[in-house]
Amino acid sequence: MKIMSGNSNLPLARAIAGYLELPLTDAAVRRFADEEIFVEIHENVRGEDVFVVQPTSYPVNDNLMELLICIDALRRASAKRITAVIPYFGYARQDRKPGPRTPISAKLVANLLTEAGADRVLSVDLHAGQIQGFFDIPTDNLFAAPVMAADIQARYGDQSLMVVSPDVGGVVRARALAKRLDNAPLAIVDKRRDKPGQSEVMNIIGDVKGRACILIDDIIDSGGTLCNAAQALMDEGATSVTAYITHGVLSGAAVSRVTNSALKELVITDSIQATEAAQQSDKIRILTIAPLIGEAIRRIADESSVSSLFD
Ligand code: R5P
Repeated sequence: MKIMSGNSNLPLARAIAGYLELPLTDAAVRRFADEEIFVEIHENVRGEDVFVVQPTSYPVNDNLMELLICIDALRRASAKRITAVIPYFGYARQDRKPGPRTPISAKLVANLLTEAGADRVLSVDLHAGQIQGFFDIPTDNLFAAPVMAADIQARYGDQSLMVVSPDVGGVVRARALAKRLDNAPLAIVDKRRDKPGQSEVMNIIGDVKGRACILIDDIIDSGGTLCNAAQALMDEGATSVTAYITHGVLSGAAVSRVTNSALKELVITDSIQATEAAQQSDKIRILTIAPLIGEAIRRIADESSVSSLFD
């Protein structure tokens, strides 16, 4: 098997290759003067099982295009099987028509990947599991929950924990984490969002008084959802609020919003390469999911069970 990377998250790709004790495939993914992307693979990949690591995070369109062009280059170089490893799947939040005459961009991205020549997709904590149905090729959606649960047990295991979903849509994810934390109790923030990009906390379902709250979500983007939820939980008597979020999108002023929030700590994974600001923030800690993705890749290549990683 071979592991190739675009430019979106080279440290993660290197860590995955390191876990698998493989070098990264020798390839150049660069720009022409007019910003067109050019890919050149410098070693033979004919007949190989190739995994291309490329989260489609900011700048999402550039990173997506790099991924598509890498896949095209591999297909034309006669790779036997191409797996798009997309730890963060950009456009995933556009998975339905929010109104008339609007696109379903997540489906368009799925079509583009398939058309480019991807044979499989490997993702982590897809915004909605149903997005797998947008593909007619095999997909594996990994969960960061075991990595998070181990960290929570090590850091907060001695406290009276309460797992909290920041909105009704995240309850299934929160319940799965609570189960891994010796069936910790669950609370839900009933959030009403007036306009896109803004969030408003209405009330908390569950008694969080005296509890160390663990907020769990797939994405932190502007930080509005999380910071408002943290404040609401503290107002209801929580002893502390820590957030575990798989994908640190952290756009705009999100890092300073987190820094100035009621959150004790924000823990994200390295599915997206953290910005300088995020890396330097005292409130943000990064957990690696490289071994999780590396092990899933090993199992896909060996044709053994991936789901048993989460038993
Ligand atoms: C929404 O359904 C997602 O799970 C996140 O809660 C949301 O994308 C976070 O966005 P923001 O940080 O901008 O509030």
